[in-house]
Amino acid sequence: MRSRVASSASTVQMMDAGDPAGRAAWLRRELDRHAHAYYVLDAPTVPDAEYDSLFRELEAIERAHPALAMPESPTQRVGAAPSTAFASVAHRVPMLSLNNAFSEDEVVAFDRRAREALGSEGPIAYAVEPKFDGLAVSLTYAGGRLVTGSTRGDGETGEDVTANLRTLQAIPLTIDTALPLLEVRGEVLMRRRDFLRMNEAQRARGEREFVNPRNAAAGSLRQLDPAVTAARRLWFYAYGVVAGEDVPLPADRHSALMDWLAVLRFPVTPDRATVCGVDGLLAYFREIGARRSALPYDIDGVVYKVDAIADQARIGFVSRAPRFALAHKFPAEEALTELLGIDVQVGRTGALTPVARLKPVFVGGVTVTNATLHNEDEVRRKDVRVGDTVVVRRAGDVIPEVARSLPERRPPGTVEFTLPATCPVCGSAVARAEGEAISRCTGALSCAAQRKQALLHFASRRAMDIEGLGEKLVDQLVDRLVDDAPAPIAADAVGESPASPPPPPLVRTPADLYRLTAAQIGGLERMADKSANNLVAAIDASRRPSLGRFIFALGIRNVGETTARDLARHFGTLDALMGAAEPALLQVPDVGPVVAQSIATFFAQPHNREVIDALLAGGVQPQAVAVVAPTTDATGEVAGRTFVLTGTLPSLTRDEARALIEAAGGKVSGSVSKKTHHVVAGEEAGSKLEKARALGVDVIDEAGLRALLARAAGTD
Ligand code: IVH
Repeated sequence: MRSRVASSASTVQMMDAGDPAGRAAWLRRELDRHAHAYYVLDAPTVPDAEYDSLFRELEAIERAHPALAMPESPTQRVGAAPSTAFASVAHRVPMLSLNNAFSEDEVVAFDRRAREALGSEGPIAYAVEPKFDGLAVSLTYAGGRLVTGSTRGDGETGEDVTANLRTLQAIPLTIDTALPLLEVRGEVLMRRRDFLRMNEAQRARGEREFVNPRNAAAGSLRQLDPAVTAARRLWFYAYGVVAGEDVPLPADRHSALMDWLAVLRFPVTPDRATVCGVDGLLAYFREIGARRSALPYDIDGVVYKVDAIADQARIGFVSRAPRFALAHKFPAEEALTELLGIDVQVGRTGALTPVARLKPVFVGGVTVTNATLHNEDEVRRKDVRVGDTVVVRRAGDVIPEVARSLPERRPPGTVEFTLPATCPVCGSAVARAEGEAISRCTGALSCAAQRKQALLHFASRRAMDIEGLGEKLVDQLVDRLVDDAPAPIAADAVGESPASPPPPPLVRTPADLYRLTAAQIGGLERMADKSANNLVAAIDASRRPSLGRFIFALGIRNVGETTARDLARHFGTLDALMGAAEPALLQVPDVGPVVAQSIATFFAQPHNREVIDALLAGGVQPQAVAVVAPTTDATGEVAGRTFVLTGTLPSLTRDEARALIEAAGGKVSGSVSKKTHHVVAGEEAGSKLEKARALGVDVIDEAGLRALLARAAGTD
């Protein structure tokens, strides 16, 4: 498409000094008509130079008579100043989503349900359209003027992007209708040609390119400065209409409403159609599928809508989607490429994920260079090897994956993939629990990949309970985003070694917390002196945790609060626990082989031990617990016995009930087994109660528990 750049030398023509208002109105109508022909119909009615001179004439009149410069004027599309945030807009009628179908069977079932709902024997007439791959917006016209444009948001509330939508030449600012209120819904997208051009320009300026037209459209629309949106050439296709209350629409079929929108100068796609019955649906799907790559815009399927509006209402809705419409999606796109290597990434929780490094390949609208291989078993099952030719698949916005390899194209000398035995980030042992697909780094306390997670867990309320140490602060402490010192550029980002190594993070392990000073914390963003002092005080106050809390805080895999408390009670001291081998760990009630192994592996990692030593050296003193011998209390009904709490008790919280039981020497477990002595069930008790009944375990209520406790305490 040609651009509308005004040429500099042109005279203002035909200025009618007598009736500037009338002349301005005429110019606006003419300019709207030509712009519609040019942008929407792609069939220019006048040469560019003539359009430009009319445009400048209107500008001149509006300059001379500012009162005539109304917001609907074509000169005013980019008029709004940048804002700092989008306001929210509550949708008058929710913006629903569509149910998806991926197979012909699902389409057949959709059509059958629709016919059943209508009690119709004959085939249904459907309106069929491409499923645009952009983002949904709603345009509200009051008295024929565009007053609000919003994004879909969560369907109930969207963002007010009126100023940005006004810059889209495809969207009329005024419409010729007597309807007092009209909402037009549709998709904002970027056509492929414009996308390629924009990326070319981005590249030339050395700026970031967008991965696909959809992201480009979303990024361009959600701009706080409308001038940026204006420069991006976004497009709009209308696909729906919502009338105001008690306002009849001028047609009784969806397809006719789309025709009417076209007359009102809204862009509606020429690729829509009406078809008859399920055969018509499937034929359209195939026809559009065959033309997909030749379309000027990206689509990810087609949409079927029962054409008769009255029938739509009769068929109705299921929760968040209409039952009278269906999105028939194209299958995921696939492409062949070469597997250059398999990297292993360590996630926040220590999970190791093999990631395929690929020779760049264009698939599903983006260039893919990495794809997930999920886990070790998946790599083996698919028998994917470095050097293989592999099939890469990408559907919608999901992470691309390696679907399979082509063994017939395998070069000689490839080897089967195995995960490393030690963590690529911290060098701790990698462990994989029996029956689990995921392998994990066991250096929970010391691994840089798990640092933030470990610190958050350590400080959490049920662990060391360090008030004020939340996610934002942990981010800063670890990333060291100190106000006056910009974050160091990583050496590998610039491809050479820095002269001196970057400063270490303020906090690497939980032990570092106990060395922090108020001055260091006060230097962080949004940290007033008072908050810094409070945090130091909170850290200080956490120095004497119960042994159970301390063990829980270490973040040992499979060791939750209850197990941590059991371990504390069983071993009495941290030393005793750290020195326990697996057989000794198995003596603890409720500790099975998986838990025992993960505890033993955790303490076997020198890095973890170093952190624990540093914690103790930093003044943390877990409070030893008197080891409870499995003896009896006055009645022997509570001490040494195992209780499970389930449901809501009438007056006690879970924590209170637990504290009472534990104070009497009993133990609270999270799951019911044959070894459970009593299940204390409250309201809405679920599967634990069922299990107790199945195993014949004694079930009591809160009153029953109180009676046991009273007898045990000798107060009964
Ligand atoms: S009709 C009641 N028609 O698909 C549903 N939606 O999953 C109204 N979409 O967010 C939507 N092309 O952004 C409709 N021809 C089309 C569409 C379309 C794309 C998007 C729309 C919506 C999503 C629904």
